[in-house]
Amino acid sequence: MPRSKIAGIGKYIPERTVTNQDLTQYMETSDEWIQERTGIKERHYAHRTDETTTTMGVEAAKIAIERAGTTAEEIDFIVFATLSPDYYFPGCGVMLQRALKMKEIGALDVRNQCSGFLYALSVADQFIKTGMYKNILVVGSEKHSFGLDFSTRGRNISVIFGDGAGAVVLQPTDEKDQGILSTHLHSDGESAEILAMYNPGTHANHWGTKDYADFDDAPIAQMFMSHAMIDNAQNFPYMDGQAVFKKAVVKFPEVIMEALQANGYQASDIHMLIPHQANLRISQFVQHKLKLSDEQVYNNIQHYGNTTAASVPIALCEAWEKGLISRGDLVCLAAFGSGFTWASALLKW
Ligand code: UT7
Repeated sequence: MPRSKIAGIGKYIPERTVTNQDLTQYMETSDEWIQERTGIKERHYAHRTDETTTTMGVEAAKIAIERAGTTAEEIDFIVFATLSPDYYFPGCGVMLQRALKMKEIGALDVRNQCSGFLYALSVADQFIKTGMYKNILVVGSEKHSFGLDFSTRGRNISVIFGDGAGAVVLQPTDEKDQGILSTHLHSDGESAEILAMYNPGTHANHWGTKDYADFDDAPIAQMFMSHAMIDNAQNFPYMDGQAVFKKAVVKFPEVIMEALQANGYQASDIHMLIPHQANLRISQFVQHKLKLSDEQVYNNIQHYGNTTAASVPIALCEAWEKGLISRGDLVCLAAFGSGFTWASALLKW
């Protein structure tokens, strides 16, 4: 059975830089607080009208496709991970298929938030291994800036997130020292409400989120997205940051070790760990726990913030563009986030 290799990788970062200082215009926060708690100095926001999650994904995809030495017409499957789609439905995969004038190939959207790219990569990996497809485009893209509460009420979340996109093209390889060795996927829905955007949705308070959305007077037709929800700012994400942090620092090392052990490696063998850029403090905790050197862990949250499904491919692309990853290097990708879901992938570049 062939393995899949990353044949091409690309990223797209929107032009507009938003510093921590810029955010103080909208909410009570400070550069000092944000840097101390998260490591973030700045993030990028997409153009309000000219850029969407799909268009950013398209730009990253074009680069990945070119670097893979192929063309959009040759791509035979799309997997698109995002939590900030252009439309509630249909997904971004079909929008990208249209934008790149691709053939009538399958397009799958993945909704696994911060772990989205790794789930997408794992799905694509299985299709390559079975021989069903030979050229799969995997995209992670987010336009968070359109859906955040920029008042002081939403500051614990809004200062973290940034916009951007990353993409890879997976192709089969028979080379022994190259390709994805394994992927590992997990979930625990017990904490689904700890990091979530409840609305719009069909829950109608079924899961006990009543305090968060008052439907009492809403006619049935309005329960999906009512005026009251918008008036009460209940259309924004919710996060219990400390609870997420505590779980993340346990699950990140666990899923990294799982990938290493499955392939007979130990932490010291990792050439480069690319953790999902959730919070620099989380990455540093994981580095310390696994006794990795600074050179073994790539972080760029300082400049892009947390771009959820886009963060792993953006960081991987940037590390590769800087010449920090070469053919045959052992690279570990890992992510944790809303769901909770968490995942890892171990590969030889
Ligand atoms: O990628 C998806 C997964 N997400 C994560 O991994 C996020 C994990 N969690 C975190 O990164 C951290 O929990 C945060 C960075 C989100 C928050 O840091 P924290 O140290 O857990 O702060 P906190 O939420 O416990 O809030 C501490 C204080 C509160 O004030 P009081 O009640 O102590 O007076 C907050 O109101 O900090 C306040 N605060 C802020 N102050 C200034 C919260 N956000 C801000 C802010 N600026 N942006």
